[in-house]
Amino acid sequence: MKDDYILELQHIRKEYPGVVALKDVSLEVKKGEILALIGENGAGKSTLIKTCSGAVIPTSGKIVINGKEFTHMSPQLAAENGIAIIYQEFNNVKGLSAAENLFLGNPIRKGIVVDKKAMEKEAEKAFAQLNIKIDPKTLVGDLTVGYQQMIEIAKAILQDAKVLIMDEPSAPLTTAEVESMFKVCELLRQKGVSIIYISHRLEEIYRLSDRIVVLRDGEYIKTLITKDSHVDELIQLMVGRSLSETFPPREETYKKDEIILELQNVSGNGDRNINLQVRKGEILGLGGLVGAGRTELVQMIFGAAKKTEGKMIFKGEEINPKSPREAIDLGIALVPEDRKRHGVLLGISIKNNINMPIYKKISRASVINNKKELEIAKKCEEELLIKTPTLHQIVKNLSGGNQQKVIIGKWLAANSELLIFDEPTRGIDVGAKAEIYKLMNEVIASGKTILLISSEMEELMGMSDRIIVLAEGRITGELGKEDFNQETIMKMASAV
Ligand SMILES: Nc1ncnc2c1ncn2[C@@H]1O[C@H](COP(=O)(O)OP(=O)(O)OP(=O)(O)O)[C@@H](O)[C@H]1O
Ligand SMILES: [Mg+2]
Repeated sequence: MKDDYILELQHIRKEYPGVVALKDVSLEVKKGEILALIGENGAGKSTLIKTCSGAVIPTSGKIVINGKEFTHMSPQLAAENGIAIIYQEFNNVKGLSAAENLFLGNPIRKGIVVDKKAMEKEAEKAFAQLNIKIDPKTLVGDLTVGYQQMIEIAKAILQDAKVLIMDEPSAPLTTAEVESMFKVCELLRQKGVSIIYISHRLEEIYRLSDRIVVLRDGEYIKTLITKDSHVDELIQLMVGRSLSETFPPREETYKKDEIILELQNVSGNGDRNINLQVRKGEILGLGGLVGAGRTELVQMIFGAAKKTEGKMIFKGEEINPKSPREAIDLGIALVPEDRKRHGVLLGISIKNNINMPIYKKISRASVINNKKELEIAKKCEEELLIKTPTLHQIVKNLSGGNQQKVIIGKWLAANSELLIFDEPTRGIDVGAKAEIYKLMNEVIASGKTILLISSEMEELMGMSDRIIVLAEGRITGELGKEDFNQETIMKMASAV
């Protein structure tokens, strides 16, 4: 061991049936450095860092913490040795409050009784440090994904970790929240804490990290010194090829006066007085901060939440979908933000998930046409480059990015007319992102319409024909393509 290494992973191998997730991967983390870990979806990033907590037991290899060798970890060993992980799919309990989640498994006690008041007080302090406004008493299930992630970060900080491992922490956050998270990272680095930072956003890697480790197909590729490396080289190392433009050009396919969906004075689910028109064949972007009411709005359109006032007109007729099922039958699809809760059935196969909305269509007298079913799934696998040994793989075992592709594939297969994408590329790698953008363009070219929620400014501006901005449940502005500008959108997003 070298003195300045706090954590070393040595020759880690992990096999699953039909997949070798990691092949002989080694890396070292220095004290007080921010080490970025990058690679395409399915490269093995999450699997690798999970060996540090015992969530994954390596087939072979060693974990060395501060000179102490382990063949595998357990959550308790990890905590004792100062390792904290914020997972990609967070492990919070939706029915407990923010404060209770913060002290999950380690509550503050007064004698033998759990001291709720003290935990709420500590939670308030921790949130204040992070500059976030969460009432410690709020149920975590009632918070947006963005806030839920913030609680995870606060939790790790409270544990006084020596190595903080973050698996795509910025993915669900807005620009402003990412900034405050970065500040926390800098602060921790100054205190000598080491950070392993996984992200698909290369600009973050460049801002934050000291060194970069690249994985590809479960193999260690290279370690780079961030300030001496170039982004083109990085992408080349990740994907094994160079990439063309991220935002492919698209022909305008909409006509100004052809409206597919119109909302008139719609209120409900936290939104007030929403008036908007979606033109057939356009990508309408919805911008705003986390909690602005965008997800809430599309939930009403999708029949997943109740509208209390106003009218929704879809293809010239008033609609009032009372359930997602009704919305789906009308031709409306939603790729949700929180895929673990709403997007896929984790316990069933890729093939079943993709065919889920269309089983009625491909069955006769309740007998599923298996050939058709497989064909549809196969096509989807090829078009979206879903990385899996077999279409029978259960979705839970896929990498985060590949799960997202399965959801998108499902709605493309269902042939929906209005597709609502809520943060569609969250956690998706550069190569796959480009594929999804290309696909969106194909969706549009085939006469369909997209409503796009994105907190990634580049994506929102790069893909949309028009952008409507929301703040605190109201529309605060609208921009045509010629007026797209990051600052203007941010201003509208923080207008009250
Ligand atoms: N429990 C499991 N059973 C079978 N295969 C698995 C399991 N967990 C992971 N894998 C496979 O291991 C590989 C690596 O997955 P991993 O989640 O580590 O990728 P990742 O780099 O984190 O990707 P992403 O950027 O999409 O999150 C993938 O091919 C995945 O399907
Ligand atoms: Mg991952």
